[in-house]
Amino acid sequence: MQPIAPALLPWFEQHRRPLPFRQEPSAYHIWVSEIMLQQTRVSAALPYYERFVAELPNPASLAACEPDRLRKLWQGLGYYSRVSNMQKAARILCEEYGGALPADFKALRALPGIGDYTAGAIASIAFGLPVPAVDGNVLRVFARLYNDDADVTLPATKAAFTRRVMDQMPKDRPGPYNEALMELGALVCLPNGAPQCADCPLRTLCQGFAAGRAEQLPTKPPKKAKTVLPVTVALVYSPAGVLLQRRPRKGLLAGLWQPAAFEEALDREELGERLARMGIPVQWEEPLSPARHVFTHRIWQLSGWRGRAETVKLPEGWVWAPPEALAGQYAVPSAFSAYLPQNR
Ligand code: ADE
Repeated sequence: MQPIAPALLPWFEQHRRPLPFRQEPSAYHIWVSEIMLQQTRVSAALPYYERFVAELPNPASLAACEPDRLRKLWQGLGYYSRVSNMQKAARILCEEYGGALPADFKALRALPGIGDYTAGAIASIAFGLPVPAVDGNVLRVFARLYNDDADVTLPATKAAFTRRVMDQMPKDRPGPYNEALMELGALVCLPNGAPQCADCPLRTLCQGFAAGRAEQLPTKPPKKAKTVLPVTVALVYSPAGVLLQRRPRKGLLAGLWQPAAFEEALDREELGERLARMGIPVQWEEPLSPARHVFTHRIWQLSGWRGRAETVKLPEGWVWAPPEALAGQYAVPSAFSAYLPQNR
């Protein structure tokens, strides 16, 4: 394989999107953007990114942020452990590194929530260190470039592809090179059998294209079917607001707020009994439209009822949330956005 950088880097210069974290490439800004962009599309992440760095412009402000406020800033992005890990890492940065990210791959990699990819992206893009940053985009580009059938979900494949990424890296321009590979994967070498080979600067070097196999690559094992779990929701209003409960401190959507909900299929009477047992007698009004929410490993099948209650005293961990507080204070997972007006 000939070197790809002479065609790749000029293409990147010309086609790179003017994303906000590219205007201000401090290590902190790169870090925030890379964490947000894991599992979230660029267009969806951008408004969150802008708001997050405006309110928390450096590791010290992130370390000091009140956890409920942090959840609120992250509400809608999903995978909340990402932001609580960021806060843990920010505290370590303040205690051990004078409040800045270290220009050192191993030290970055040792921080909570920072894996090989994120450490590589920060080290190369912010600090110009010659280390790889191999995400799903880059694996796809290299599977096609080398016409390689290996299963890209296997660690051994990732290791082998990473060696090729390093062999191809111009050691004086690691940041632009890594980001150009991601950008090529995001804009041209698209997933799901849709590569835009006619627009690709690497077309003449691409062995997958030459073999007519770009669309079939990369190779992945078939996805496991996700478990579908019924969730019955009680959307209960009193004169004081909507009934919310705080989720447990650990596990899925830890510490977020939600309408009363039970992870089982309940009918209207059963739902009423559950709430009555907690001292909340409810007058049901109408069924909620069924909705689905897809997580990484499971699917919630949501249904339930809307109803009214008196403003009774609630058990620990439950509140009547007035509309202003729902908008400004309580972080509610997107899974419930079909039922509650979302609140940024
Ligand atoms: N996806 C994740 N990080 C990215 C970046 N820095 N540029 C383009 N796409 C990305």
